Amino acid sequence: MEKKWWQKEVIYQIYPKSFYDSNNDGIGDIKGITQKLDYLESLGITMIWICPIYQSPMADNGYDISDYYQLNPEFGDMKDLDELIERAKEKGIKIVLDLVINHTSDEHPWFQDLLKNPEDSKYRDYYILKSGQDGMPPTNWRSVFGGSVWEPLKNTNEYYFHSFGVKQPDLNWENKQVRNELYKMVNYWLKKGIAGFRVDAITFIKKDQNFDNLPADGADGLVKCTKKARNQAGIEEFLHELKEETFTKYDCVTIGEAPGVPYEQYGDFIGDNGYFSMIFDFRYADLDVASGSEWFKRVEWNVLDLKKLIFKSQTEIQKVGWGANFLENHDQNRSLSKYIKEEENRNFYSATMLGALFFYLRGTPFIYQGQEIGMTNFKRKSIEEFDDISSIDQYYRSMNEGFSAEEALHFINLRSRDNSRTPFHWNDQEYGGFSKVKPWLGMNDNYRSINVEQQEQDPNSILHFYKKIIQLRQKSECLIYGEIEPILEDHPTIVAYKRKYYAEEIVCYFNFSCDEQKVVLDDKFDVLLDNYKEDKQTVSEQEYFLKPYQALILLKQGESHHE
Ligand code: NOJ
Ligand code: CA
Repeated sequence: MEKKWWQKEVIYQIYPKSFYDSNNDGIGDIKGITQKLDYLESLGITMIWICPIYQSPMADNGYDISDYYQLNPEFGDMKDLDELIERAKEKGIKIVLDLVINHTSDEHPWFQDLLKNPEDSKYRDYYILKSGQDGMPPTNWRSVFGGSVWEPLKNTNEYYFHSFGVKQPDLNWENKQVRNELYKMVNYWLKKGIAGFRVDAITFIKKDQNFDNLPADGADGLVKCTKKARNQAGIEEFLHELKEETFTKYDCVTIGEAPGVPYEQYGDFIGDNGYFSMIFDFRYADLDVASGSEWFKRVEWNVLDLKKLIFKSQTEIQKVGWGANFLENHDQNRSLSKYIKEEENRNFYSATMLGALFFYLRGTPFIYQGQEIGMTNFKRKSIEEFDDISSIDQYYRSMNEGFSAEEALHFINLRSRDNSRTPFHWNDQEYGGFSKVKPWLGMNDNYRSINVEQQEQDPNSILHFYKKIIQLRQKSECLIYGEIEPILEDHPTIVAYKRKYYAEEIVCYFNFSCDEQKVVLDDKFDVLLDNYKEDKQTVSEQEYFLKPYQALILLKQGESHHE
């Protein structure tokens, strides 16, 4: 593919509520991000994606927007955002915002008007309304956060549709006026000088217009709505129009959150004339559960399974375009806890091995706040300690499906989105230096041993290694643009691949186990990166023994190293 500026970026994802609290009210804010720009610069990232900061009652922490043009005062005001954009720019860091256009908050003025005036509000057709049947909702579809997708519209016989929470009514994309309102808003933000958008839940915008019932798939008598309300035929027209009316007018980057797209359709999404610059592929992130909304259906997996998913994703994406690679985000549990099964092996080696493994895949790498210091899952003792609406739903649904309260708690401890949303660990002081007052969400207790200050002082820390991982990628065209070729595909515990760019070849080995593993090297190599002691500059032994969780990045000798 033709080179694009956004292929070179290293993106750092910020969950603003939990990053840094500048005014000590327990809630992270925009000024907090600005104050930590030096930290982000020293890490070496080039772009920040900030989760929603718009006005919102925060039922889903900002993914429920009540005014697209205002910021949530808890986060700050427009002056704060302008200052952040400007200061970041001085450091060569771009800002990407979240775009949530599948739904609004029920507190958005459009929906409020509809509530006041259900019969003849001019916003009636902005949402999806249907009459019930015999006292039952229009269909038996389950929303992503549990319960029916249909909620009675007060004082009427009608229901409104929500793919996610009750306070997140879906917009009616069939209505041209709605689409135009949204495009206007998107253009407003792009004009303001942001680099682009991460586009939320975008495959949900088209619903099957027949609104039929389906056979139930759970004890609640409902069925996942994704079968009828995600990536449905006809979505291509909406996505094409969205792009033409907004994104194409700017040289911006768009990262689609587009679950449910089969690989055969990836060309439409990220090909030469695709709807987005890149999209996330969630298949490997959800390998431990039946689906992102069924945490009680645990799935056994091994390294070979993970490898197959990663390489399938990589090779399918390579055929048509470019991908967005991530280990963690605000909807996932922490990667060290998910991918490294034995607690005693969650350490420097496994954290840096995982980091490098994902970083040198073909695509733009994302780092989620805290990943770079090896933050882990927590263990909560009761449901009261959770904030995330989907955790609360999964807890009660698990019990409804026949699990005990203890088992239900176990599932959400493993998978809760709160795992990645706990306040960031800046130092070992109270509340991890995140705030001087009790934060909105309970800390992970291990902030005393896992924190930025301590790792900045330790040259052998995860944080320092992440800096090296980033620096190496940024100076190697081969690691940025090179083709990927999986090797040792059937090996049960070594993940390995080559990156190739013109005459240059880089071979990456990752020992995904706590035992030594032998590899046979077919040439002489320069060592570019090694998470064990860097005492060897070159390796040429026929046999090389990878140490537990070793990451070894090798440049084949004799070729020029593109700097
Ligand atoms: C995906 C977002 O990442 C998630 O946090 C949110 O709850 C849903 N979309 C609904 O907007
Ligand atoms: Ca604050």
